[in-house]
Amino acid sequence: MNSSLTRRGFIRCAAAGSAALSWLGARRAPAAHAAEADKPALLGGTPVHSGGWPAWPMWRESWEPAILDVLRSRRWFRNSGKTVTDFEAAYAQLLGTKRCLATSSGTTALLVGMHVLGVDAGDEVITSPYTFIATYNAILMTKALPVFADTDPATLTMDPASIASRITDRTRVILPVHIYGLPCDMDPINAIARQHRLPVLEDACQAWLAEYKGRKCGALGDLGTFSFQESKHLPSGEGGAITGNSDELLDRCHAYHNCGRAHGTFKGSRTYFTRGGNYRMLQYQAAILLQQIEKLVTDTARRRENADYLSARLGQIPGIQPVRLPENTRPVWHLYPFRYDAAQFNGLSRDRFIRALGAEGIPASSVYHEQYFDGLLDEAIASRGFKRLWSAERLKAYRDSLHDLRGNRETCATTVAVFQNTLLAERPAIQHIVDGVAKVHAHSAALAKAAA
Ligand SMILES: Cc1ncc(COP(=O)(O)O)c(C=O)c1O
Repeated sequence: MNSSLTRRGFIRCAAAGSAALSWLGARRAPAAHAAEADKPALLGGTPVHSGGWPAWPMWRESWEPAILDVLRSRRWFRNSGKTVTDFEAAYAQLLGTKRCLATSSGTTALLVGMHVLGVDAGDEVITSPYTFIATYNAILMTKALPVFADTDPATLTMDPASIASRITDRTRVILPVHIYGLPCDMDPINAIARQHRLPVLEDACQAWLAEYKGRKCGALGDLGTFSFQESKHLPSGEGGAITGNSDELLDRCHAYHNCGRAHGTFKGSRTYFTRGGNYRMLQYQAAILLQQIEKLVTDTARRRENADYLSARLGQIPGIQPVRLPENTRPVWHLYPFRYDAAQFNGLSRDRFIRALGAEGIPASSVYHEQYFDGLLDEAIASRGFKRLWSAERLKAYRDSLHDLRGNRETCATTVAVFQNTLLAERPAIQHIVDGVAKVHAHSAALAKAAA
C-alpha cells in the first residue's frame, strides 16, 4: 500500500473544507486503485499500513555471550556476582544520579522507596490518577491512601495547582508520575513539597532518559523509580530500579530490599536491626539490561525524532491535539499519546476512531480509564485494616472526592495513544500513521454513520 494513495484521499477532503491541511502534498494514485484506497479499511477499503511494525522486545545475537556467561557462572543471586552492581553503576551514570539500586520490579521499587521515605500504615500519598494501576497498588499495599491530584488534560500529567488542597496532616510523600515518558512540571511540584516539608518520590517507571530542564527524570525528586518490565523501553521481562543522590536514602533502600541487612552507613549493633523484604534483582536480569543500554540511547533518539514528526503533522488535523510539554522538557514517548475531539470527526466515537485506525494497520488504544471506580479502592476502604486506620467520615469523603477529578475524567475520555514500538519504525511507516488519522478524519462522517 502506497501512502500517497491515502494522502490523496485526505487532500480531497482538505480541499473540500480544511485548507490548513494542504501541506501534506500529494501524488496522483493510479485511478483503478483510488476508490478502494480511499475507502476506510473498516468499511472494506485497503489499509494504509500493511507492513507490520517492529517487534517488541528486541533481541540481538551479539548480546548472547555476555548473558550466557552469567547463566553458566551459576552465580544468579544478586549477592554472589557483580553484574547487578555493574548495571547499577551504568544506569546511575546514564541518569546522572549518584546512586542506583536495582530491584525485582517497578512495583517493588515503589514499595521500597515509600518505606524509606517514611510512608506507613494510615498515611496518605498524593499521586496522579492517570497512571498504570501499579502506582495505586503499591500505595495500597503499604496500607496508605492514594490521594489523587487532578490531571491536566493538556499535559496528561499531575496538575501542580491541584496538589496543595490535598495535603493533610497524614500526607507523607508526593508521588508524581511521568506517564508515557512525559516529564511532570517538577519545579512547582518540588516547591510545594519543600513548602510542606514533604519528600518527592518520582514514578519514572515509563520515563527512562526523559529530561526536565536539563536533568533526567528519576533525578528530580528525593528518589526515582523505574520499571524494566517486558513492554518497557529497557526490558528484562521483569525488573526495576531506584535512583537518587542521597547515600543515606540509598543505603536504607538497599537494606530494605535485602531482608533488612546492613548496607553502607545504615547498620545496627545486631544483624536484623531493621525490617526488610526480598526485592532483589537477579544477575541475569541485569545482564540482559546491561546489553541494552546503548540501544536505549539510540532508540530514544529515534522515538523523539518520530514523535516530533507526528506532533507537527497530526496537530494540523482538526480534532487532534498533541500533548503540551512543560517548558524545556524532552520526553521519551512510551506510547505516543494525543487528545481526540470527536466533534471534529463528525461525532465519530473515540472507540470507533481507534477501531478505524486499527483497521488501517495502526495499533492504538485509549489506555487508562477512570480506574479508581473499578473496585480496588472500594475493596481497600471496606477492608478491616483501612477501617482501623481511618475514620468512616474520612473514607467517605475520600470516596466522594473521586468524582471531583474533572481534569482526569476529561483526560481518560479523550486520550488516544499509538503503541510504543511503532515509534521505532522507518519514516515512511511513521507517515502512514499521519495518513491513517487523516484518512479516518476524511471519512469520519461515513464511519460514524455506519456505526449508528
Ligand atoms: C507508571 C508505572 N508505574 C509503576 C509500574 C510498575 O512497574 P512493574 O510492572 O515493573 O512492577 C509501571 C509498569 O508498568 C508503570 O507503568
